[in-house]
Amino acid sequence: MTIPHVIVVGSGIAGLTAALHAVASGCRVTLVSKDVLDHANTRFAQGGIAGVMFGDDRVADHIHDTVVAGAGLCDPEAVRVLAEEGPARIRELIALGVAFDRSADGEFVKGLEAAHSYPRILHAGGDATGTAIERALVARLRASDVRVIEHAFLVDLVLTGRRATGVDLLIGGRTRELLPADAVVLATGGAGQLYAHTTNPSVATGDGIAAAVRAGAAVADLEFVQFHPTVLPGGNAAGAFLVSEAVRGEGATLIDDSGRRFAFDAHPDGELAPRDVVARAIAEQMARQDGRPVRLDATGLRPTPAETAAFLGRRFPTIGAAVRDRGLDWAREPIPVTPAAHYLMGGVVTDLHGRTSLPGLYAVGEVARTGVHGANRLASNSLLEGAVFGARAGDVIAADAAGAAWPVVAPTPTPAPGGATRPIAVLRAPFSRPALQDLMWRDAGLVRDAAGLAHAASVLDAWRAPARPPHTVTDHEDENLRLLAARVVAAAQARRGSVGAHFRSDDRVDGPAARSHRKVPA
Ligand code: SIN
Repeated sequence: MTIPHVIVVGSGIAGLTAALHAVASGCRVTLVSKDVLDHANTRFAQGGIAGVMFGDDRVADHIHDTVVAGAGLCDPEAVRVLAEEGPARIRELIALGVAFDRSADGEFVKGLEAAHSYPRILHAGGDATGTAIERALVARLRASDVRVIEHAFLVDLVLTGRRATGVDLLIGGRTRELLPADAVVLATGGAGQLYAHTTNPSVATGDGIAAAVRAGAAVADLEFVQFHPTVLPGGNAAGAFLVSEAVRGEGATLIDDSGRRFAFDAHPDGELAPRDVVARAIAEQMARQDGRPVRLDATGLRPTPAETAAFLGRRFPTIGAAVRDRGLDWAREPIPVTPAAHYLMGGVVTDLHGRTSLPGLYAVGEVARTGVHGANRLASNSLLEGAVFGARAGDVIAADAAGAAWPVVAPTPTPAPGGATRPIAVLRAPFSRPALQDLMWRDAGLVRDAAGLAHAASVLDAWRAPARPPHTVTDHEDENLRLLAARVVAAAQARRGSVGAHFRSDDRVDGPAARSHRKVPA
């Protein structure tokens, strides 16, 4: 029997897990990474990983919280798989050496984040969970038989008929190489760089989704872009810095210019309402106060400023350093925060094993649309999704390659950009990445309306034809961002009403009104 060769593109938790599971199930694996291996979005995850790891928590509650946060649009079967298999994957990470924080009695410290009915978030190094996970997985991968190619940019998928049979890479920014494979796993992450303000690193340019779209794979839910409520202000160049939801989980509050807590105006769960609700409440409050950031008040987390400072230093060392870098002392004063683009719920449509609508092509992690997130991802479910569905894909690739028929992955129809129906604006600015990011922030961001979306569609349409074929990595990234931006806008135009992260100020009819994480009865 020949050994199937699998190419995994991307080196966050989903890609690394898929690679390790594929090797364990008998594949020969090559993992390609756009940058160095550990420069993936996973590394920047702070809050932690959600999972039912305590005796008094219940899988049914994790499922309920995920579906409620997702505004009812999650795929129930995918959520069940996520919640049921999550604990085994977390134990696998522990076995790999991820030292989740424990209390003096040796028990895992329980972390609470918004929209969870139970404090089921495990964290490591206080607020450095992603770094701990990435480090452990990279160490295991380096010790395995997986061949690693770094600084390898995915230009496109190679197809034979409709089957994915390899990748077209730009290596080291100079050399084009076609790498053949029996299967390709996209684990390329999201596309935060579509927006002027994002928590994502510079590598998050949607390369995998764009390549999948060009190859004809089904994509869906691209209108659902999650904005994290709390980042320290600063554009992408200045480094918008995530302030974990776990800070609110520990009791920090959101206040307006006058010091009033405003989150309860938007939702009975206040600062711990679903993420899209809190992000919008902040954006609306900022609009009321002439664009000035709201403030996150962590000063009262312990009885005295000294105790608060000690607690914050222990629990949130990474965030604390970023706060200090900006000349602030968050034990003594509330800090400014604003929303920023954080996570793409939509992506390449998959089944429960990461299989896409194209034979031989898998997608895992943020690039995928498994259906677990619906219209708004529950906090700390992203690392979990990467681990659960990365493993599931890795486990089936060898058997799939041995000849099992490729299942039909229902291609959820997703609108392609139709072009502008009429010129909305005279296009003055030529394409540039910052211009695209500003356009998306303004017209296809947290709050959308028909006029803004039509304007964005018109501008993107005018930018569609590049002046010259893409040559450098930056050129290719720009192409990918342009393509994805048009898809996000088209999907947002097609979705009627407001639901989860997709909010239309001119069509506010919401999904489930009372989205609360209150526990379901046993
Ligand atoms: C956070 O720590 O607030 C982010 C966690 C997540 O995106 O799930």
